[in-house]
Amino acid sequence: SGTVRVDLSGVEPGQRITVKWRGRPVFVWRRSLAAIEAARAVEIGDLVDPVDSGRENPNLTGEVPARDENRTADASGEWLIVIGVCTHLGCIPLGQDGSAVGEFGGWFCPCHGSHYDTSGRIRKGPAPRNLDIPPYTLGDDLQLVIG
Ligand code: FES
Repeated sequence: SGTVRVDLSGVEPGQRITVKWRGRPVFVWRRSLAAIEAARAVEIGDLVDPVDSGRENPNLTGEVPARDENRTADASGEWLIVIGVCTHLGCIPLGQDGSAVGEFGGWFCPCHGSHYDTSGRIRKGPAPRNLDIPPYTLGDDLQLVIG
């Protein structure tokens, strides 16, 4: 089936892991407080793509501002889960190993130079949209189900 289950209970604060889902990488990041605060301090008016729709984030209905609070898997914002495919032409951005995170601390796509912030939002470069978010559930027991 198209469902993937992942136990996140062993992921350390600050750690990023990559999971395959339907042939694509899904980036899971247990963000540090600094990364959360950086994401939540951004003004909507500074975003290239200020709106997330239910098509881009199936966990939403309708359209909502691309605030970090609307993009994380938990209310505290510790868990960010995004599809690791650049919205420009589909390369896999760098950053999961903690290096080459780009100018905004999230991910950097080396193909044509797109920079994503710590919420996976496009901030600089040719990519037109924020990184998509897969459909998922994340329980208090940190069992992630994607799809
Ligand atoms: Fe990522 Fe072009 S595919 S910047």
